Amino acid sequence: MTSPSPAERAAELRALIAHHNERYHTLDDPEISDADYDDLVRELRAVEAEHPDLIVPATPSQQVGGAISATFAPVEHRVPMTSLDNAMDAAELRAWAERVAKGLDGEPTTFVCELKFDGLAMSIRYEDGTFVQAATRGDGTVGEDVTANVATITDVPSELATPSSTGIVPPVVEVRGEVYMPTSSFERLNERALAAGDKPFVNPRNSAAGSLRQKDPTVTASRELSFWAYQLGEVIDGPEFTSHASTLEWVGELGFPVNEHVQTFASIEEVAAHCLHWQEHRHDLDYEIDGVVIKVDDPAQRDLLGFTSRAPRWAIAYKFPPEERTTKLLDIQVSVGRTGRATPFAVLEPVFVGGSTVGMATLHNEEQVAVKDVRPGDTVIVRKAGDVIPEVVGPVLSARPSDSVPWTFPTNCPACGNQLVRPEGEADTRCVAPDCPAQRNQKIAYFASRGAMDIEGLGEQMVEKLTSAGLVKDAADLYSLTVEQLVELDRVGQTSARNLVDAIQGSSTRPLPKFLTALGIRHFGPAATTALANEFHTLDAIMEKSTEELAAVDGVGAVIANTIAQWFEQDVNVALIERFRAAGVDFGDPEAAQAAADAKARVPQTLEGRAVVVTGTVPGHTRESAEAAIIERGGKSPGSVSKKTFALIVGDNPGASKLTKAESLGVPILDADEFERLLTTGELPAAD
Ligand code: IVH
Repeated sequence: MTSPSPAERAAELRALIAHHNERYHTLDDPEISDADYDDLVRELRAVEAEHPDLIVPATPSQQVGGAISATFAPVEHRVPMTSLDNAMDAAELRAWAERVAKGLDGEPTTFVCELKFDGLAMSIRYEDGTFVQAATRGDGTVGEDVTANVATITDVPSELATPSSTGIVPPVVEVRGEVYMPTSSFERLNERALAAGDKPFVNPRNSAAGSLRQKDPTVTASRELSFWAYQLGEVIDGPEFTSHASTLEWVGELGFPVNEHVQTFASIEEVAAHCLHWQEHRHDLDYEIDGVVIKVDDPAQRDLLGFTSRAPRWAIAYKFPPEERTTKLLDIQVSVGRTGRATPFAVLEPVFVGGSTVGMATLHNEEQVAVKDVRPGDTVIVRKAGDVIPEVVGPVLSARPSDSVPWTFPTNCPACGNQLVRPEGEADTRCVAPDCPAQRNQKIAYFASRGAMDIEGLGEQMVEKLTSAGLVKDAADLYSLTVEQLVELDRVGQTSARNLVDAIQGSSTRPLPKFLTALGIRHFGPAATTALANEFHTLDAIMEKSTEELAAVDGVGAVIANTIAQWFEQDVNVALIERFRAAGVDFGDPEAAQAAADAKARVPQTLEGRAVVVTGTVPGHTRESAEAAIIERGGKSPGSVSKKTFALIVGDNPGASKLTKAESLGVPILDADEFERLLTTGELPAAD
C-alpha cells in the first residue's frame, strides 16, 4: 500500500475533522476523545505548514467549533468568540512566550493564568442590567440561542449588581465564560440514571452539553449546571480596564462567579511551573479542567498582539496530557481473584492515556458490561484519571461493526473450569471451587503484597511459577522453600533465589497486624487488624475470643467480628495457622500482652470508655506516651475529633483542622496541665 500524498491526506483530514466537529458541536455525541481530535487538527496544520499551497479558505484548521444545529435560533456574536491555540508542553509554552515578546518588541509582559474549564463556552448578554440572551460559541461568529436554558442556572444572575468600583452598570454587557457540571453533580446524575436503568453519561462535559440542548428548560434546571466567568464580549460605554485581573474583579462585582485560582506571573518559567502544579492537582477540584489558559494581562499589549484568523495571539491554552482516548476493544476476559470473585476486564489495543500506556481496563462486573453495552470489536472510550485504575467509559456506537453481538458472561471459571455462580441479588459472579488455582495464586500473592507481609520479589508471576512447579500450595509452604528448589525454576538465578528465600524468612517477624491482614479474611482490613492487635497482642488471644468480645473492640464491629470468628472456626484455617506457627512466623508478643494486663491492673481507670484526642506535642510527653497514658487509663485515643470526643488535648504545633472541629462541636479543649489533671482525676476543668 502506498501512503497518501500530502494533498490526499489533507483532504482526508479535513473530511474527518468536519465529521467530528459535527458529532461534537452539533450532535453532542463525539465519536473520538478530545485528544484524538486535537491530534487530527495538529496533523492537518503540520501538513499545511509544510505545503502552504494546500491551504484552502474553509480549512477546519483555521476555523472555530462546529456548524449550527436547527434546534436553536441563530445568534450573531457582535464580538467574535474565538478559540485558543494549544501548547502541549513547556517547550511550546516557551515558544509562544517568545512570539509574544517579539510582537511587543521585547517589552516585559505580565501573564495571567486561569484554569481551563472543561465545559461549554457561553456568551451571556445583559441590556440595562437585565439578562436578555445566552448563546453558545457555535462557529465563533454565529452561535445558538439557549437563553431559556441558561436562565435556569443559578450562578447566572437575572439582574446585574452595580459594581461599587465603577458605580454604574453599562447599557450593554456580554459576560463570557464556561457552563460546566461539577463532578459531584455529574456523579449524582449518573447514579440517578443507573437507578432508572438509563444509560450513564460519559463525562461531565457531555452531560453539561446535553443538559443545555434540552428543548424543555425544566430538564436543564434539574441538572445542577454552574458557570465560571472569564472574559467580556461586547460592552457599550463600559469602564476602561488596565489589566485582565481588574476586569475579572469587575465581572465578580456584577454578580458572576469568578474562579479563585487566577494568578499572575512575570516569567514564563513560573507559568510553566504553575501549569505542572495544576496538572498534578487537577483532581483536587470538584470540576473538570483540561489545562491552564495563559493570557497577557495588559489590554494595551493585547491590542498590539491582535488575532490570527482563529485565535488571539495574546492567549494560549496549555493542555494537560489526555485522560481519555478512543481505542479498539479486542476482547473481554474474566479474571478470578483471591475471594473467587470473577471480574470482567477489557483487553485493549494499547493506548497512551493518563500518562501511561493502557492495554487492559476493568469492567467491574456483569451488570456494568450490560449497562455500558460494550462488545468485543467496539471502538471504546478509555479513561485513566489520576491514580484510579483505567476504565472503559463506553462504546462509540456509530463505529460499531454491523455483525457485533452483545457479550455474555462465561458460565465456567477460566482457571479451574468449575461452574461460576451469581447469587440472587448480588452484583458479583464467583468461582466457589475450593481448589481453584486462580484463587490459590491470588491468595498467596496477596499474602506477600506490600500492605501484608511485604515479601519483595514475590509477585503474581513468581507465585504462578511456584505453584505450577508444585513447590507451594499455600502461603505456609513459602517458609520451607530453599535456594536449591528455586534455581530449578525457569529464569531464576542463584542471586534472586537467595534474595527471595531471605525475603520470605525476613517476613516471619512482621508485626501482628500485617500477618492478620495477610490471611486475607474478608472485610478484615488494616484498621481492624491494628485494633485487634493493640487490644489482644497475640494471635492466640484473638483466636480464643468470642464474636461478642471481638465486636466490642473499637474499630471492629459486628460484621468483621463475625467473619473473623467463623474463619478461625474452620479446621482448614486452624491447620494453616499451625503450619505458620511451625514455620516460625511471629504471632505477637505474649510478654507485651502480660505487661499491658499488669499495667491495667495497677493504673486507676480514670478514662474508662472515653475518647481523648491529642494534637501537637504535649510538653512532658511524646506523641506515643500521651496516647499510651490515655489508653492505660481505660480511654481511647482516636486520630480525629467527632461529637463523641470527650476532650481535645492541645500541645505545641497543633493541627488546625482538629482544633476547628473541636471548637465547632463544643468539645472541651485542654492544655498540658489540664491534661495531667484529667489523667489523674478523669475530670474536665470547670467551664468558665
Ligand atoms: S478564554 C479569546 N479562558 O477553552 C479567549 N477560555 O479552546 C477566549 N475555556 O472556547 C477563551 N476555560 O470554551 C478562556 N479560563 C478560560 C477558559 C476558556 C475554558 C475554553 C473556552 C474556549 C476554549 C478554547
